Amino acid sequence: MSYRDLAAAARGQIGPHCRACPVCDGRACAGVIPGPGDKGTGRVAGRNWEAWQALRVNMDTLHGSFLADTRATVLGRTLSLPVLVGPVGDVQRHYGEKYDTASYNRCVLEAAAGEGTLALTGDGLDASIMSEACALIGELDGRGIPTVKPWDARTLDGKLEEALAARPAAVAMDIDAAGLPFLRGQEPPAGAKSPAEISEVAARCHEAGVPFVLKGVMTASAAERAAEAGVDAIVVSNHGGRVLDGTPATAEVLPSIAAAVGGDVEVLVDGGVRSGLDVFRALALGARACLVCRPFVVAAFGGGADGVRSYLDELRCELTDVMEMCGAATTADVTPEMIWAAPAAR
Ligand SMILES: Cc1cc2nc3c(=O)[nH]c(=O)nc-3n(C[C@H](O)[C@H](O)[C@H](O)COP(=O)(O)O)c2cc1C
Repeated sequence: MSYRDLAAAARGQIGPHCRACPVCDGRACAGVIPGPGDKGTGRVAGRNWEAWQALRVNMDTLHGSFLADTRATVLGRTLSLPVLVGPVGDVQRHYGEKYDTASYNRCVLEAAAGEGTLALTGDGLDASIMSEACALIGELDGRGIPTVKPWDARTLDGKLEEALAARPAAVAMDIDAAGLPFLRGQEPPAGAKSPAEISEVAARCHEAGVPFVLKGVMTASAAERAAEAGVDAIVVSNHGGRVLDGTPATAEVLPSIAAAVGGDVEVLVDGGVRSGLDVFRALALGARACLVCRPFVVAAFGGGADGVRSYLDELRCELTDVMEMCGAATTADVTPEMIWAAPAAR
């Protein structure tokens, strides 16, 4: 089933906040929280998507014939494609009754592992969200990445213990989560974290032999502080616009961040990546891999685990096509020169 068909099948089952649009471009749900929308004027999710569409790719088929190899090495593992399923916390609240967070996590974790990649799981005020996610990842021999929120020290300590006990592929933290409207002034509290605090979290993960990923980095300066603190990977992310209105698109900041820290840490990106062509664009701007989040919820509502697998396969086929049409035999061969640069105005 194509993503369009999955979205059509999801309509009527998902909602009322998500419209399961044929292209998840952030328009229909702009500003809708609770729901999958973004904060304030609700423009950032749409901006993320548009920024990828504005990038034109350089077609070049003057090369020997090859079958493009979409595999990518991410956090020490070879993934079948440079796409991970992004984390969603509190699925029922934002998308409706069909899935609770545990059943959604099971669906995407198993489907992603079956397709040779990984899903991240989310976190929330309800402690069972994280506990159930970690139990599932443990059942899957660690093939998943729990994402913990930047809680106060005591809460964080307990959550890290749970996460590391699952022996996951990595542990992530969405350091930007304190900006979520429904997390403000709540118990347990969440907030910004200093480089020293992040360094402690990274060290604790490393002691357990688990890589640590910092999600929610939007400047080269913050990326440099993250690298100095010892993180293994960052996710260039504005949380799909859910934590702060008025930010640039992730595609706009990715090149400067990749230039600053790409040699030191793995640079991942999310926000509005919807097609294999968008994945190619992200690789060309310096990302090692992408997270795709909202469309996988739609794929799961429309087709369950088969829907998630179909969408991953669609992304893989589209990426293969673009790589072959632009002359990249492997994901490592995708370079910035494959993005068209308009001649400077005279
Ligand atoms: C309903 C919803 C819940 C989310 N929950 C989490 C979460 O628990 N942890 C997290 O790191 N990101 C969370 N995110 C952010 C996504 O993982 C991702 O960064 C963002 O949606 C941008 O990617 P996308 O445009 O592909 O959706 C959530 C996003 C949505 C829409």
